[in-house]
Amino acid sequence: PLPARFTVPLPIPATAVPVRPGRYEVVQRAAKVEIIPGTATEIWGYDGTFPGPTFDLRAGDRTVIRVRNELPVPTSTHLHGGVTPPESDGYPTDVVIAEGRGFRPPQGDHSHHDLPQWTFHEGAGDYVYPLEQRAATLWYHDHRMDFTAPQVWRGLAGLLVVRDDEDDALPLPKGERDIPLMICDRAFEEDGSFRYPSLDPTLLTRPGVGDAFMEGVEGDVILVNGAPWPFLEVDAVRYRLRLLNASNARRLRLRLTPGGRFVQVGSDQGLLTAPLTHDAIAISPGERFDVIVDFSGHPVGTEVTMVNTLGAGAARDVMRFRVRRGAADDSAIPKRLSRAEPVAAAVATRVFDFRRTGQGGAGSWTINGRRFRPGRPLATPRLNTSEIWRFTGDFHHPVHVHLARFRVLARNGRPPAATDAGWKDTVDVRPYEVVDVLVRFEGYRGRYMLHCHNLEHEDMAMMADFEVV
Ligand code: C2O
Ligand code: CU
Repeated sequence: PLPARFTVPLPIPATAVPVRPGRYEVVQRAAKVEIIPGTATEIWGYDGTFPGPTFDLRAGDRTVIRVRNELPVPTSTHLHGGVTPPESDGYPTDVVIAEGRGFRPPQGDHSHHDLPQWTFHEGAGDYVYPLEQRAATLWYHDHRMDFTAPQVWRGLAGLLVVRDDEDDALPLPKGERDIPLMICDRAFEEDGSFRYPSLDPTLLTRPGVGDAFMEGVEGDVILVNGAPWPFLEVDAVRYRLRLLNASNARRLRLRLTPGGRFVQVGSDQGLLTAPLTHDAIAISPGERFDVIVDFSGHPVGTEVTMVNTLGAGAARDVMRFRVRRGAADDSAIPKRLSRAEPVAAAVATRVFDFRRTGQGGAGSWTINGRRFRPGRPLATPRLNTSEIWRFTGDFHHPVHVHLARFRVLARNGRPPAATDAGWKDTVDVRPYEVVDVLVRFEGYRGRYMLHCHNLEHEDMAMMADFEVV
């Protein structure tokens, strides 16, 4: 039985501890955890936890994370929002397999399992993160070819917070008042196990979900940091909340009730130049919003509920804050957060159309009419240049670009929404919308990808390579 809403305390994921400076080791393994009180749910998690441990790292500190795979399936770990060398970017066919486990690419109805595309690491893989980037809330998750959606659903996701001097120097809330909120939906069977409509629940043979799930898989239970509709006791002060929508397919529109506003200080890729106040925040899968919420306007004893106004029934509730007492607050929200970075003029414009095709009986999701095939880049931008990328589509597609950050320039030729501000790596492209972004290619040459972050769409081939040259 599902718990009553707002009865489970909000968990804070454990902070990862290095084995020595700059080196971490995590193990991907199955574990039984208590998500629904009194019931065990089997998860697949980094260190057997869901969310996985939070990596709290500093910009410019080169970090190596060794990921050991003890699961019965291949895995690939991608650091979402990371400026990462291509060989550590978690390419879908660059996988880690458990020791002693042979690997056959799944025999599915997909046509892209040509063996030469695969790279295998047996036992463990080392991911190198130089983190030459600004402070930002990143997250890591599985990215295995054709099976990302069910493997993330089972728990393979966690946070990685990059900090830097600029962000630390601001008088924003810190320590226990700086809280990550990984929000995602899940569904459960009667016995407490996760419910997900995989065609092959072993995740070893046939990929995908039934045609009824073309639009993606949603659950009726909202989890925050892995707990169903949790509550958090807060002091009547400001808090910094790092919001992440880690759902496979569910879009959220967050609001505080009976009242309260979000003062946004950062987006996917770090600080805004100046704070922005929103009554509601629409957040699609993969996006992050770094916001300050001030509970001092609420009398002690008040309950403030964060709701998802796009959700019906139980999926409308997210979590609740209980204002327990007054307290001193030395935080402030400065008028200037970060300096504006000059944006170089674009040297090229490219169009990426995200659309369903009926080809081959069962439908599939394509970019520019093509299903994903490793090794066929759709674009070859030059390092240290900027380009305008125009995203269009037939449905809600949260478009994510690896490596390169971007600014939203326009929606349907008009100025973007207030919530599009800042440097981003994921943008919600709404049905039949034309979204122009200015993308900056920095850091590394090599093969990267862009794709829809609706994870079922991603598994149904809505991905493409691009190669920075
Ligand atoms: Cu968050 Cu390519 O993914
Ligand atoms: Cu999509």
